[in-house]
Amino acid sequence: MKTDGGSDAAKRRAGERAAEAVEDGDVVGLGTGSTTAHAIRALGRAVDDGLEIRGIPTSFQSRRLALEVGIPLTDLDAVDGVDVAIDGADQVVDDPDAPAHGALIKGGGAAHAREKLVDSAADRFLVVADPSKLTECLERPVPVEVLSDAHTVVADRIHELGGEPTLRAAERKDGPVVTDNGNLVLDCAFGRTDDPDGLATRLSAVPGVVEHGLFVGLADVTYVGREDGVERRE
Ligand code: 5RP
Repeated sequence: MKTDGGSDAAKRRAGERAAEAVEDGDVVGLGTGSTTAHAIRALGRAVDDGLEIRGIPTSFQSRRLALEVGIPLTDLDAVDGVDVAIDGADQVVDDPDAPAHGALIKGGGAAHAREKLVDSAADRFLVVADPSKLTECLERPVPVEVLSDAHTVVADRIHELGGEPTLRAAERKDGPVVTDNGNLVLDCAFGRTDDPDGLATRLSAVPGVVEHGLFVGLADVTYVGREDGVERRE
């Protein structure tokens, strides 16, 4: 499942502004997706200009791009911590009065398991988004990565939780999307989700679920790229 719309110029502004927050010596979590790709390219240019960082990619896609632009890479188990992570989102709750303000749905690129691992390990998690991602409440289907043997039993449990699961199909092949971890993805429609924290807890408790795309209480800042600049939302 990919996200709709969002101009590339707005994504580029958000990604490039977030990259400016990275400092010399930082260990940087490198998220996945078209918005984060702009941040990775900007970091590659900064490395060419002398910035010393080490990146931790969250997917095959971000690893390949980081290598292409010359960012030295490392692993979570080879560092003491992650200073900052930059990552995109499919939806961001943008309502300072809502308890779920800052909650995200991620996983449009099926990379949310490793993204959550790296983003949650970071001292600062910077979300990069275009305005089409902002919402008053989460309502897109929640991507749920599942062990392949478990996808039918997990689908039954998702129904019991009030969701409508769909096995994500590969766009150009006659078969399902297979994640970097060798698993499958169920996109689970729950409609409007006013209590993402509760839903996250219920999803995590289902045997066979590897990780779901609800990121609650993790984001520190959202950089929203607009046609005429970048807005920094906390
Ligand atoms: C990948 C993700 C992406 O960050 C999310 O889908 C946003 O992608 P894009 O920046 O291309 O709109 O969660 O798993």
